[in-house]
Amino acid sequence: MNRHAFDLSDREFRQIRDLFFSLSGVLLADSKKSLVAGRLAKILRELNLDTYQEYVDYVRLEESGREKQRLVDALTTNETYFFREEAHFELLRKELIPELKSRNSPINVWSAACSTGAEPYSIAMELAAQLGYSGWQVTGSDISEKTVNQAAAGIYPLEMVERIPENYRKKFCLKGVRSQEGKFIVKPELRSRCRFFTWNLMVRPKGFGSFDIIFLRNMLIYFNASEKDIIIRNIVSALRPGGYLIVGHSEALSFAQSYLNKIRPTVYQPQENLSRAV
Ligand SMILES: C[S@@+](CC[C@H](N)C(=O)[O-])C[C@H]1O[C@@H](n2cnc3c(N)ncnc32)[C@H](O)[C@@H]1O
Repeated sequence: MNRHAFDLSDREFRQIRDLFFSLSGVLLADSKKSLVAGRLAKILRELNLDTYQEYVDYVRLEESGREKQRLVDALTTNETYFFREEAHFELLRKELIPELKSRNSPINVWSAACSTGAEPYSIAMELAAQLGYSGWQVTGSDISEKTVNQAAAGIYPLEMVERIPENYRKKFCLKGVRSQEGKFIVKPELRSRCRFFTWNLMVRPKGFGSFDIIFLRNMLIYFNASEKDIIIRNIVSALRPGGYLIVGHSEALSFAQSYLNKIRPTVYQPQENLSRAV
């Protein structure tokens, strides 16, 4: 019979940590043990399993990849909000969009760890405000399929709308009615300029890119130095020469100084010797 609470032994925790690391590159600290136990308990109940060991064996043996994805969805930290780190949106609005607009070719922006979509839609609002609904595209990707599906739907609790500047709210958001009461919806015109898919940044991008601007914010903090370097090299391989990489305010890329120039805090450009370096 299933217990309602499960004990996670140190050995089981290490196995889950190693499994999650092999799937995502994220190394969970020992301090995350109770968080892991809590987040996975619901799945154990649903699968009618009695121990975390049974769960680990189940995930390892399951062939479709569905349970591996569910583990990733459960253990990633997906906190996000609209117009997070406002200075980056001011930079977009006042400098980067006007500069890229003057080139007269489509502007491509990648939100590379987009979570539930607040970041890519904030970028899209800045682009649409200056360019209308053509001449640009925003790509959003994340390792968590669950968050990517939420991003593609573009439906959020009403509280989240408060961080969106009022003029953008009026222009790009609709208030939900009937089954969407208490929610807001990103307007279809804006959504149609955005595409979303699941992507693990430990894997080098192929089949998409190259981008004028890549946002990779509040994601590197979960990685060790060697994985950070792999991720940044992968990301930079999808950046066009002269493009911009924007990271979170607590994420310095000093380890990448042989192939990236820091043009201001949190904003980087690839060096000319880039193709040899990455
Ligand atoms: C805290 S959220 C940041 C969201 C957004 N960039 C922001 O700043 O608000 C970090 C995201 O990184 C994603 N992530 C973690 N490991 C990843 C990997 N290996 N590849 C792609 N995304 C990953 C998580 O799923 C999570 O949604």
